[in-house]
Amino acid sequence: LDKKVRQNNQEEGNFINYKKMSENLAIVRERLNNKPLTFAEKILYSHLDDPQGQEIERGVSYLKLRPDRVACQDATAQMAILQFMSAGMPSVANPTTVHCDHLIEAQAGGPKDLTRAIDINKEVYDFLSTSCAKYNIGFWRPGSGIIHQILLENYAFPGGLLIGTDSHTPNAGGLGMCAIGVGGADAVDVMANLPWELKAPKVIGVKLTGELSGWTSPKDIILKVAGILTVKGGTGAIVEYHGPGTESISATGMATICNMGAEIGATTSLFPFNDRMYDYLSATKRSEIGDFARVYAKELREDEGAEYDQLIEINLSELEPHINGPFTPDLATPISKFSEAVKANNWPEELKVGLIGSCTNSSYEDMSRAASIARDALDHGIKAKALFTVTPGSEQIRATIERDGQLATLEEFGGMVLANACGPCIGQWDRKDVKKGVANSIISSYNRNFTGRNDANPATHSFVTSPDLVVAMTIAGSLHFNPLTDKLKDKDGNEFLLSPPTGAGLPSNGYDPGLDTYQAPPAERSNVSVAVSPTSDRLQLLQPFAAWDGKDALDIPILIKTKGKTTTDHISMAGPWLKYRGHLDNISNNMLIGAINAENGEANKVKNFTTGEYDAVPATARDYKKKGIPWVVVGDWNYGEGSSREHAALEPRHLGGLAIITRSFARIHETNLKKQGMLPLTFINPEDYDKINPEDKVDLMCTELAVGKPMTLRVHPKNGEAFDIKLQHTFNEPQIEWFKNGSALNTMAKAHAS
Ligand code: F3S
Repeated sequence: LDKKVRQNNQEEGNFINYKKMSENLAIVRERLNNKPLTFAEKILYSHLDDPQGQEIERGVSYLKLRPDRVACQDATAQMAILQFMSAGMPSVANPTTVHCDHLIEAQAGGPKDLTRAIDINKEVYDFLSTSCAKYNIGFWRPGSGIIHQILLENYAFPGGLLIGTDSHTPNAGGLGMCAIGVGGADAVDVMANLPWELKAPKVIGVKLTGELSGWTSPKDIILKVAGILTVKGGTGAIVEYHGPGTESISATGMATICNMGAEIGATTSLFPFNDRMYDYLSATKRSEIGDFARVYAKELREDEGAEYDQLIEINLSELEPHINGPFTPDLATPISKFSEAVKANNWPEELKVGLIGSCTNSSYEDMSRAASIARDALDHGIKAKALFTVTPGSEQIRATIERDGQLATLEEFGGMVLANACGPCIGQWDRKDVKKGVANSIISSYNRNFTGRNDANPATHSFVTSPDLVVAMTIAGSLHFNPLTDKLKDKDGNEFLLSPPTGAGLPSNGYDPGLDTYQAPPAERSNVSVAVSPTSDRLQLLQPFAAWDGKDALDIPILIKTKGKTTTDHISMAGPWLKYRGHLDNISNNMLIGAINAENGEANKVKNFTTGEYDAVPATARDYKKKGIPWVVVGDWNYGEGSSREHAALEPRHLGGLAIITRSFARIHETNLKKQGMLPLTFINPEDYDKINPEDKVDLMCTELAVGKPMTLRVHPKNGEAFDIKLQHTFNEPQIEWFKNGSALNTMAKAHAS
């Protein structure tokens, strides 16, 4: 294990540390009396910051971890890097890559769409490319491919720990990597060398027996699992596949399964290291990593007798192809029952568009199998009846299937080849064939099919399935078609049955890398200047937040007392606001505009105490800020539930907020608030929420802030006597420093400077 094996072929100095991992694991094993461990636990425990002292209880403890890598896509990278920059460090502390895949709209086909995107998003791409060069981050240019495919092809390795600012990061589980989707604030922590915190997940075991064959593909395994566990069933858990069935699945197929584990809410999904992974590592020029993994192989799978919190068994020999949807990925229907379901539910029968690709299903194997079905149809003189789009997962895949002929087949079949990017999967689709509001059906090999996700038409019934079934249904143009049993008519009117798909898992002539789309950070980076135009409305450099003034805050207003659910969407809405993700001041104009004011039951209408006028929440906050008046928010239960969106914490801080006082918090949002230097506080007595009126003023005794001690909130009712309320908090020592210094990043910057 002493060998120096590089993590990848792109970076010189980053090595795989199996030795350290095995030492950490040995410490934990001893502490846990050598009880058999799952693979998921082994990866996490071998990445502990403090294996000796860390408290370890599955589903209970918060693990402090040291991930091997960070990856960001272009939509989330902007704020992550802007925050990192404000810490004043010369380069990222841990290997990081950025991938341009989310901002390319599908309209006229790959090359044209890419050119247009580069033009429209120029300032964002320029910022990302220069900041990556400056801070030693690998940059994958637009056109390189989808983040998760690039990670699998280049960066994932068995037993590693990766965090990525995208929910389908678990894709790398196809190479036995524990890869977890996080918010930008978590990525910033790891880039700045803070340990990363994760609640020790439960582990759900999925035992696979039998073997895939015919029309059944890896996708059907996860479609089935989603049906069993539903969209909530994997919450707080890692799904760990094991058993003899894992041997018959290609590495990219395993990646498909792990990828879509995000749809059941799983923290991540994992496969144990096996020969199929070795083959993929060799095919992608990393056999040295494969050989090294073989040395450490014992720890790259579950121990015998490892216990799972829940166990599911699937016999692949009996598994049918599935189609899931519409509107939710867990509504699973086997193909034999699908036509019936279409009738019973009145789903639009005609198939309008079939779409293959996305990070879930765009491997060489996927494209080869899809092309084999298309070829079968072409040989019978027929083509796609529905519209058909193809998204290669990466430039390497596009170039390889161009060389090997699959791309030409898919085009001859009627396919429009889109850029190597997310495209319609993330709603970047200028769809023209159906008007908004018209009910219609589309089917894709993607992972998510929530209402409006692909084309912003709430009446579109979006189904997800394997690329194989997408192609088959596209030929028929109807949701009633079952390729296993139903015949098609060839050009002369003779009936025929499609042959089951075939296709190599890996290209026999090796991958063709295609165009060079990678920008390595230069060795000499001190002269690189980061491109941010001062007039940009999409990007804005962040100024470090001011440190605490050391005083209690007296006689300050309640900006808003929210009633009922206040999710991160209410606090920082998505949709059109996503454009401003890199511009804190602009995006702050959405702060709390969705939250309901307890005073009048309305959204985005609060009284400005200085003027007596009602105004929008952000406008009122800005006015207070201008007048130098800090403010607090009073909130209800589970404030900040939803996502890890860091903007929901950055915005109130930016607009002059001091504290958010609630009945309770969603934990991630609570931590995000602390990181930005705010005070998330809760009522010791939740009924005190009712004692406060939106027009009251408060004194917040900030000087009382100490670990495990309550804080006093003195309420000055508009009419009546002042009274005290006791608040509690979950700050620990280091977090109190965040508050004092103005933010976690200020604290990092200070530590770095000294
Ligand atoms: Fe992109 Fe869709 Fe995957 S948005 S990252 S292709 S889920």
